[in-house]
Amino acid sequence: VVGGAIAADMALTAITRGAVHVEMIVLESYLEMPLTKDEKKHLLDMGIHFTNRTRITKIANEGDTLKGIYTKPVMLPQDTKFHPSLIVDEPLSTEQFRAFDMVVLAVGNRPGIKITDSSAFFCGDMANGPTTVVEAVAAGKNAALRLHAKLNNQSAPQIDKSTKSHTAISGWKKHPVALDTDFFGRTISSPFLLSAAPPTDGYEQMKKAYEAGWVGGIMKTAFDNLDIHIPGEYMFVFDDKTWANCDNVSDHPLDRVCEEIGRLVVEFPDRLTMASTGGPVTGDDEGDKAVWQANTQKLEQAGAMAIEYSLSCPQGGDGTHGDIVAQDAVLTAKIIDWVMQISKPDVPKLFKLTGAVTAIYPIISAVKETLDRYPDKKAGITLANTFPTLGFREGSGKWDEAVIVGMSGEGVLPISYLTLSRAGGRGVEISGNGGAMDYLGAANFLALGAGTVQFCTIAEKYGLGIIDELNSGLSHYLEYKGLKSVSELIGIAQPNSVTDFMDLHAQDKVSASDPDLCEHCGNCTRCPYLAISLDDKKIPVIDEDKCVGCSLCVQKCFAGALYMKPKSTK
Ligand SMILES: Cc1cc2nc3c(=O)[nH]c(=O)nc-3n(C[C@H](O)[C@H](O)[C@H](O)COP(=O)(O)O)c2cc1C
Ligand code: SF4
Ligand code: SF4
Repeated sequence: VVGGAIAADMALTAITRGAVHVEMIVLESYLEMPLTKDEKKHLLDMGIHFTNRTRITKIANEGDTLKGIYTKPVMLPQDTKFHPSLIVDEPLSTEQFRAFDMVVLAVGNRPGIKITDSSAFFCGDMANGPTTVVEAVAAGKNAALRLHAKLNNQSAPQIDKSTKSHTAISGWKKHPVALDTDFFGRTISSPFLLSAAPPTDGYEQMKKAYEAGWVGGIMKTAFDNLDIHIPGEYMFVFDDKTWANCDNVSDHPLDRVCEEIGRLVVEFPDRLTMASTGGPVTGDDEGDKAVWQANTQKLEQAGAMAIEYSLSCPQGGDGTHGDIVAQDAVLTAKIIDWVMQISKPDVPKLFKLTGAVTAIYPIISAVKETLDRYPDKKAGITLANTFPTLGFREGSGKWDEAVIVGMSGEGVLPISYLTLSRAGGRGVEISGNGGAMDYLGAANFLALGAGTVQFCTIAEKYGLGIIDELNSGLSHYLEYKGLKSVSELIGIAQPNSVTDFMDLHAQDKVSASDPDLCEHCGNCTRCPYLAISLDDKKIPVIDEDKCVGCSLCVQKCFAGALYMKPKSTK
């Protein structure tokens, strides 16, 4: 009875406990039910029925035994916003009896009590009614602060809104370990930077990023005298944290970027204002080289504190035979050499490579060989970029339109890890990039040898304020790992960052279940080795002869009812 979150929990509990028919009887229409679209879909997928616009008039008992309920169809007067008090019975409607074995009144609580005693402390639903967990925690923290002040005879803290908490608990340090790190001889207060992408596409974006706390950013890739083609609408959301795009360059010319850099370096002298550019690859080496060098010099004169070159645009380029520039070691080395010939020694150059290669060694070797020819000039690589993929979208041809898109975000992360694991510790400075969606992903980049980490998708998804969490998260993680600085973390996993295949443990464990925790959903019977069946009490039974110890079932059991144990000897 009732169609909110508590009723949904009840219904799900009933169906997972084995009820043969579960029905939510609700005053609201399907659309009005106070649940999200996904929650409603989940309930329907689980086989729960909704009976909307219906009220219960009576619960029918015979002695102590429940027999069922009487219901009546109801309606909401036209042009009225739903409120239970506005619901009226449908004209001429009659009561209908429905047999049920159990009726659960799942009515949410709202606080009706007014507590005026200043020595009563309460929070969560008691204070604010059923809100989110985050707000309940904030309310709890505020109550604790008031209680603490009271016990210490201090004046009560000023709390503007009980569902928000902006006060740091005393003794809690936001940054227990300082995040200062080195970027080619310049100290920056965090290793986290914004990569060349929409969040850095202009003065306004960079200013906003700096105000949010980012220590540096690479302005989106720009060129001069180029017909800009940005098929911006070809954005793909592969999943919640994995996106893909066709948006490789800024639609602002390099001249505008230079003017904006000039302003940013004056207004934010302590930040790392960097730029991204490139040049043509047409096969006319002299002509191409002149443009790469001219763009470099223009940005250096504008005051760019470092310059990145995208050699890894997922759609490839002219003169690359359809490949990505950085898939070709010889071409990559040639372009790097053009830039390094005229590079101002103290303006670092970053060459942005791709992870979409069979092996990164030949590319890194070619880069290193070239950079070693310029020992007095600062330079390194960005590893990597988006990963080239194919996306389908509805088109007018015989089949859907297939588009090459650069995949970014979480899906790229393990690819970037693998590439970095092979490239780190080889004497080339690395700025890590590609897929980090939290501080842990970024910490792994640093451990594999990156000196800084660049982000794009995380800032697009959560907003620029996410830098606060990234910095605080990394700082606490360093403390947890017993590391005293970012430099202690950089490269800590190298040189043997990857466990050799033959050194991986052979199978010596099997799955086992804890019947007390089991919720009897049966998901674990999908074991791909057919090693799990349910007994007559719906408790999993594991056939140790069939179980190969892959641990999939343990990782998938939402109730934590499965675990791995040493294989028993017979
Ligand atoms: C919409 C969009 C536009 C991008 N534009 C550029 C660009 O102009 N130049 C560039 O070098 N990289 C560009 N990138 C790639 C990002 O800088 C970054 O390398 C990539 O998204 C991987 O990092 P992430 O997983 O943190 O997003 C773009 C990425 C996105 C999502
Ligand atoms: S062990 Fe886990 S997955 Fe298997 S039936 Fe019980 S709750 Fe479901
Ligand atoms: S560990 Fe793997 S093989 Fe063994 S029961 Fe679980 S899913 Fe099946």
